[in-house]
Amino acid sequence: MIDQVERLLSEVDAFESGDPDEIEQFRIRMIGKKGKVTQLFALFKEVPNEQKKEFGKKLNELKTKSTQKVADLKGASKPAAETKSNLDISRPAEDLTLGSRHPISIVRNEIIDIFSRIGFSVSDGPEIEDDWHNFSALNFPKEHPARDMQDTFFISEDFSLRTHTSSVQVRVMETEKPPIRTISPGRVFRNEAISARAHCIFHQVEGLYIDKGVSFADLKQSLMYFAKEMFGEGTEIRLRPSYFPFTEPSAEVDISCVLCNGKGCNVCKNSGYLEILGCGMVDPNVLENCGIDSFQYSGFAFGMGIERIAMLKFGINDLRHFFENDIRFLKQFRSSI
Ligand code: DAH
Repeated sequence: MIDQVERLLSEVDAFESGDPDEIEQFRIRMIGKKGKVTQLFALFKEVPNEQKKEFGKKLNELKTKSTQKVADLKGASKPAAETKSNLDISRPAEDLTLGSRHPISIVRNEIIDIFSRIGFSVSDGPEIEDDWHNFSALNFPKEHPARDMQDTFFISEDFSLRTHTSSVQVRVMETEKPPIRTISPGRVFRNEAISARAHCIFHQVEGLYIDKGVSFADLKQSLMYFAKEMFGEGTEIRLRPSYFPFTEPSAEVDISCVLCNGKGCNVCKNSGYLEILGCGMVDPNVLENCGIDSFQYSGFAFGMGIERIAMLKFGINDLRHFFENDIRFLKQFRSSI
């Protein structure tokens, strides 16, 4: 009987396999419920007394070795699927391809960052807007020709896709009490033919500051600060009188050309200046429409296109690049913001 144990011991030593099924068969045959080791233990009482000690020792050795062997082989073996593929665990890992932020997001975040440093919070409004918030409250009476300044995607008589982020001004003034200092970045929609300079979807940032005694000088100073932070210390701004129904007086703001520094080039059409935004003092009618006492409070507002700022900042000459998701275009932009 001791011989039998010896034979089994060498069988255990010799057994090698990477196949999980074979290893399992081996386990059952050796140390399973009806396996060899169990059977030999059952025979223990028939072993002559003088051999019991040696037999017991060998048998225990067989049990330990078999158990250990099964554990070792199982640990080293792979699941069937992996064993069949040509998995090479020594192969260097593939590089992680890191994405980059979209240039519009980069510029939007930078605008938020610049204005947050002078106390502006960020507010948000819906992209589907009612007539009141997109037009009427902003002093665009029904049937007024000023509504034609923006080609609108109507959803119904009362609802449209917002044509500008100025609608968020109204929502903020309706729900918050002055002092209000907020910017509202977001997507806007206009029924325009797509070209290098126009798109039916684009992004704007609206700015609004309402408090006692806010003046046009505050507006100019804030925009100058913005222009210098965004385009560099040497940037100058110029305000031209303009018209928007919701501001009085209204102005359009130009910055000195980022390419020629105001000397004149083909980007600024030799004017030395580039238009970046519209602004003005919030019309008292708009304040009253939103429940703010126009005798106590005044304020300024401005609105800019993010694509426009991004094109000037990065020297991009076709707005359609922003929407095509061409990876060769997108991966040129890196940012920590
Ligand atoms: N909403 C205007 C547009 O989309 C931009 C604008 C102009 C916003 C003047 C303003 C502003 O807040 O004061 O063309």
